[in-house]
Parts: sequence; C-alpha cells; structure tokens
Amino acid sequence: MLDNKRILLIVAGGIAAVKAPDLIRRLRERGAKVRCILTRAGAQFTTPMALGALSGDAVYQELFSLKDESEMGHIRLSREADLIVVAPATADIMTKMATGIADDLATTTLLAADKPILIAPSMNVMMWTHPATQANLATLKAREVRVIGPGAGDLACGEVGDGRIAEVSEIVAAISRYFQGEVDQGPLARYRALVTSGPTHEPIDGVRYIANRSSGKQGHAIAAALSALGADVVLVSGPTQLPDPDGVKVVHIETAAQMLKACKEALPRDIAVCAAAVGDWHVAGAGKKKLKRDRGPPALQLASNPDILATLAKAGGGRPGLVVGFAAETEDVITNGKAKRDAKGCDWIIANDVSAGSGTFGGDNNTVHLITREGVEDWPTLKKSAVAERLAERIAAYVSRHL
Ligand code: CTP
Repeated sequence: MLDNKRILLIVAGGIAAVKAPDLIRRLRERGAKVRCILTRAGAQFTTPMALGALSGDAVYQELFSLKDESEMGHIRLSREADLIVVAPATADIMTKMATGIADDLATTTLLAADKPILIAPSMNVMMWTHPATQANLATLKAREVRVIGPGAGDLACGEVGDGRIAEVSEIVAAISRYFQGEVDQGPLARYRALVTSGPTHEPIDGVRYIANRSSGKQGHAIAAALSALGADVVLVSGPTQLPDPDGVKVVHIETAAQMLKACKEALPRDIAVCAAAVGDWHVAGAGKKKLKRDRGPPALQLASNPDILATLAKAGGGRPGLVVGFAAETEDVITNGKAKRDAKGCDWIIANDVSAGSGTFGGDNNTVHLITREGVEDWPTLKKSAVAERLAERIAAYVSRHL
C-alpha cells in the first residue's frame, strides 16, 4: 500500500523516540522507503545505529556536518521525500515549527520543506494542554500540518492524561490514509454521527415559552469536531445564536418532541452525542393563541418530555454503536453523572458542573469528567472547542477499535 513512497521521518527528543524503530519497520513492511533525521535530543532515546539498520539508509543528524551536507543537504532531504513525518513531535519541535525557528538539521529541513508534514505529538499532559502548545498546534493545523494523536493514558512521566504518542499502528494508518486519497479524510470518514445541541423551547402559548440557559456552544463544537475528523454529521439543534457549523447538516427544532422526531429520522447512526439541554417538561395543552393578562395568571399544567438520550441508548436494532450523554449537575457531579450513565443506558457520560458560579452555561470554557464503564477521567478546564476536539479524538479511537 505504501509501495515506493518516500517518507522522511524526523525523530525528536522524547521517550516515544523508542518507538521509531518499530514505526520504520512497519512502514518498510508496507513498501515505503524511510529516511531518518535524528535530533540531538532524540539520540538520547534511540540510536542512529538502530534507525539506520531498520531504514537501510543513512541517518542524518548534524546541520553543520560536512559529511551530511555534502551527501545530502537539508533542502534535498525534503525534496527527495513524498511526506515528512515528525514522530515523536515534542513540545519543543512544535514550538520551533510554529514560529519558524531553524537551529538544527530537523528544524531547518522542516522550515525548508516543500512537502506535506504529519506530526505525532508526544509529551507530558500539562505540556500538551498548556495554552502555548495548544496555540502552536492551532497554528500548525491552520498551515495544514496533519496531526495524529496524542491519546490518553499512562504517561512515561508517571502522570495520566493526554500526551501519549499515537500507537504505531495509528501513525501507519494516518500515513496510509494520506497516500490513499492524498486528501486525509480523517479517522471518522466511514462513520455517521448524530449530535443534539442547544436548549429546547416549550411553548406556553402562541408567544411565550419555557427555555433554559444553554447556548449550544458545546454541542455545536462537538458537531464541528466530529465533522473535522471526517464524520458525516447531523446536528439537531434547538434555538441558539450560533451559525451552523461548516459541513454539518443541521436540523433546527424548537421542542423536545420535535428533537426526538428529528433524531429518529436521522437514524441509523454509528455515534450519538446528546449535548442538548432538553426541557424536561412541556406545558400540557398549550394553545396557539396568546393568553390574555386580564384572565389572571394561568395555572400551567406540565407534562413530561421524552428522554431523547435514553430513547437512543435503548437496546435495539437502531441503537448507535456509541451513545454519549452529558450530565449537567449543580452538585455531586461525578456521583450524579455515574447514576445518569446507568439510568439512561448510554456508554459514556460527560459530567459537568453547571451551577451559577461555574460559568459553564453560556461561557466558553468547560471542566468535564468523562465517565465510562472503565472509570472516571478528570479533564482540565478547556475551551469548549478543545473539549469537543478531545472528545472527537476519543470517539475516533473508540470506534476504530469497536465499530
Ligand atoms: N436528555 C435528553 N432528553 C431529555 C432530557 C435529557 O436527551 N428529555 C439528555 C441530555 O441531552 C443529556 C442527558 O440527557 O445528554 C442528561 O441531561 P440532564 O439535563 O443532565 O439530566 P436530566 O435527564 O434532565 O435529569 P435532571 O434534570 O434531573 O438532572
């Protein structure tokens, strides 16, 4: 599948550099030609001998080496490749790429590159989530640098969280995807997703309604993030001030009953994420005419709305393979989140604190806990767009293994 594709692999200085030999081996098994640049820090973790033996080519290390430059200058290294892969991509090399620093052979080659670049970041979770790294990541993505991973899990530094380099098989798959279509359609390209977002409006009469403070920012960001990874996304949204996300089919509804109908019509789907703040009740017998004030305050009779998440999660032929719900809580966030996961029958719950002081409803940030059958993961406070991207990556990793 990678027959004669020329890959320039830049191995930077992180513990994940120990995986470089395995990556080279698997790429060569698929027919690729691999040539390596090893940074000085990378050489602390793996050796030029190992990379050279597996790639069957010279390993380039020094910018100011007469031998390296006369044999193969930094310009030619890029020109003679079809794709440049940086694995592991450390916080340091990402910073240098984003700012255009060229102070060694790897970064000089990257700055002089005329070829697409794929990076596989790997670092400590705090380094990864640091706004500086996230800003560099955004800059690199805006320049169409492709990114694979990182995933979550135990890190070499002993901490737990995001920052673990993508599995070697995932890096190989991302490289293959690139060469298959030249356009990377993303890890969710084969998958269909349904997302609910926003509040619902439950009419009291022809002009008044019961609503809640949901802005739809989180749900819309999730729809956009799933679409960015290639999924075919239907977003069923209550009334919000937000524009429709690019590339996403949006069904605009007002009430919970309409939301349920639109969701059912969108089935079958592989993935469902219910981020909407669905009104739990509607006004029984609400009419189209405006209630007149001189009749006195109406005695509103409320009736229960359908539970959309629970309906979608119910076992049966049309159940999406992965059903994710939110738990909007004002106290005992994790305990209530776990109880909600059981009660609704969904696979994952994203539990968040929506109490007045949290700023979650309407705000741009979110502090969430991912509750799965395996346990609870506490995510740091992130922008809602970053929560969405991280969730989409997690969903991509899950569906690639289970669906
Ligand atoms: N949900 C839904 N349909 C409803 C109510 C909630 O699909 N009628 C979904 C939400 O989209 C969310 C999850 O269920 O994914 C939990 O919503 P939440 O408002 O936290 O909980 P409720 O089920 O409404 O329970 P409570 O208000 O008692 O906390």
